[in-house]
Amino acid sequence: MKIITIGNNKGGVGKTMQCYQLVCHLANLGHRVLAIDLDSQANLSSTLGVNIQRTLIPEWLIGDVKVDEVISEVSGDYDFYENVRLIASSRHMANLAKLLILSESEVRKSAGRKERLMKMRLKEIENQFDYVVIDTPPMLGDELIMSLVASDLILIPTQAQDYSIDGLEELMDTFEIIKETENPKLEFNIIPSMVNPRRKIERQRLEELSQSFNVTPMIRNLVDMQESVAMKKPVFMFNNNSKGKSAYVKLWDSLGLN
Ligand SMILES: Nc1ncnc2c1ncn2[C@@H]1O[C@H](COP(=O)(O)OP(=O)(O)O)[C@@H](O)[C@H]1O
Ligand SMILES: [Mg+2]
Repeated sequence: MKIITIGNNKGGVGKTMQCYQLVCHLANLGHRVLAIDLDSQANLSSTLGVNIQRTLIPEWLIGDVKVDEVISEVSGDYDFYENVRLIASSRHMANLAKLLILSESEVRKSAGRKERLMKMRLKEIENQFDYVVIDTPPMLGDELIMSLVASDLILIPTQAQDYSIDGLEELMDTFEIIKETENPKLEFNIIPSMVNPRRKIERQRLEELSQSFNVTPMIRNLVDMQESVAMKKPVFMFNNNSKGKSAYVKLWDSLGLN
């Protein structure tokens, strides 16, 4: 089972977009995919057709409820949806911090540290899925850190703009700490996202980024991508003229996710 987190402490950079496209792509290849939405805004859940009143993710993480109580099928017409299961989010994700404080001593006994909870819970279901894809909220909080401790790979969508690139430093520091302490196998790749390559400044920023980091082929700012989410139709189902579709073929190939 390969675990992939999509993360960036900045919002609006395309995290949920990459999650949705990746979950659908892998399921369409025939893999059994578990999508986990850790963002209280629940955008991934609603794009996969699931809207719930109250998520039990915090209770599942601390071990109070079984995985069957948080996992659901996704809803839509596509055959490949049979291969997808979702752990859906809701506004109640915000209870996580509170519950972690209240159950601190139990967590310490079972997991040692709260950062290891996601890893423990995913270990319990490792035979049920080929891939786990985790969408995370736009902050360097417990959700993202737990996910990084559990993951093989973090994909970091980033816009080719100064503030986005400055913000990466904080995330890379966290990545290094987790790699050195809890999870030596963790790898990362940066996905340039919503790029406008006609702008010279964006091309320059990308060039600089790729000198210091592992950078994948870019995803441009495209109407296709907005339509994909609005229609709840993954971009690989678009016709062959779609620029979004060909960009994602290159992206998944470059990551060996095919
Ligand atoms: N490549 C793209 N081209 C055009 N619009 C995009 C692209 N990627 C994402 N978007 C749009 O930008 C907004 C933010 O993307 P989203 O994936 O929700 O970001 P995040 O999860 O990081 O907050 C959404 O409205 C999404 O539909
Ligand atoms: Mg999001």
